[in-house]
Amino acid sequence: MFADTDLLPPDAILGLTKAFQDDTRESKIDLGVGVYRTVDGRTPVMQAVEKAQQLVINGETTKAYTPPEGAPGFAKAILESLLGADHSAVVSGRALAAQTPGGCGALRLAGELLTRTGARAITIGAPTWPNHKPLLNMSGMKIEMVPYYNQATCAVDFESFALELRKLGPKDVVLLHGCCHNPTGADLTNAQVDVVIEIALERGFLPMVDIAYHGFAKGLDEDAYIVRAMAERLPELLITYSCSKNFGLYRERTGAIIMVGADADRAVAMRSHVYNIARGMYSMPPAHGGAIVSEILRSEELADMWRTELAEMADNVRVNRRLLVESANKHGLGNRLAYIQEQYGMFSLLPMDEVEVAVMKSDFGIYMVGAGRINLCGITPANVDYLVQSLASVMQGKG
Ligand SMILES: Cc1ncc(COP(=O)(O)O)c(C=O)c1O
Repeated sequence: MFADTDLLPPDAILGLTKAFQDDTRESKIDLGVGVYRTVDGRTPVMQAVEKAQQLVINGETTKAYTPPEGAPGFAKAILESLLGADHSAVVSGRALAAQTPGGCGALRLAGELLTRTGARAITIGAPTWPNHKPLLNMSGMKIEMVPYYNQATCAVDFESFALELRKLGPKDVVLLHGCCHNPTGADLTNAQVDVVIEIALERGFLPMVDIAYHGFAKGLDEDAYIVRAMAERLPELLITYSCSKNFGLYRERTGAIIMVGADADRAVAMRSHVYNIARGMYSMPPAHGGAIVSEILRSEELADMWRTELAEMADNVRVNRRLLVESANKHGLGNRLAYIQEQYGMFSLLPMDEVEVAVMKSDFGIYMVGAGRINLCGITPANVDYLVQSLASVMQGKG
């Protein structure tokens, strides 16, 4: 059967982690893999998660299957945390959620649902998180990339993006990042979101918002602007949600797909297909992570603790953005890197090409993904000057 099976190269990001681990230079810096880390390089279990986990274990009386919507209380809790308990789409039942194996599981389910429904293609602003492509392609969706981020100005090229959206029709889907755009850190402003909504109303395409960093940009409510506004003003919407970063539940594979239909019956119909697709892929989601999230969000005390810890994590990343820009100012790169302080989330793109990224790795032991994506969590007061000096020598002579 597998005599002719070829060997695939390792996953680019996972391969980078291995190369970093094998590097013996003391000065090496890991700006690659996309997890939150503290200044001493740990990805800790959040205290709220630890406490909720204990409650879940103490209260567990069975390992029987979970229902298709996931751990009890999870779907409602995520809807209320993201859209708000008072949101018209939640109150009317037009918005429904189901737990998925991580944000990736939600994206794959959404792709399958769209393929089944006869969507023409999914339009994505470039660049995007590399895993969007296989997740959606393998579900049968055609992907069309359009301009989003201008590498020369280090900012969103909204005019070009909007121009492309104006060409779409009712069989099209547009993938948008909820906040903390991965890999650029360059988000749409609320005013630009409003324009996208106007275009969606005019052209009839379906927006799909992928939100994997809820709470990491400006705050839980502010970061939800795009989904709240779209769920309010548009007849239909898909949302894919990840609890990996904001609950630190990476390995528990916890996420959600949220379906907003024209009315409650449509939403139930959409969800029935999602259940049916999931049944054909993995049956039902793992219970543990969903039970933890549900436990946290239904307890005022744990929810408060979680919000405080999340705000601290987001703050630490902002501090690292500032560290980088301050050091850039000291070392003559101030003009080139000032934009980093205006961006959101764990990632930004450095103005480098793949050759320069390779030199950063080989000559300086500084590891970053593909076309210069850095995880700001890898920056510390101890390594920032070495990082910026290395950048200065590699970027020397460029614009
Ligand atoms: C933009 C984006 N979407 C979705 C995900 C999916 O996350 P997970 O499947 O780990 O929950 C990620 C994770 O890095 C991401 O960056």
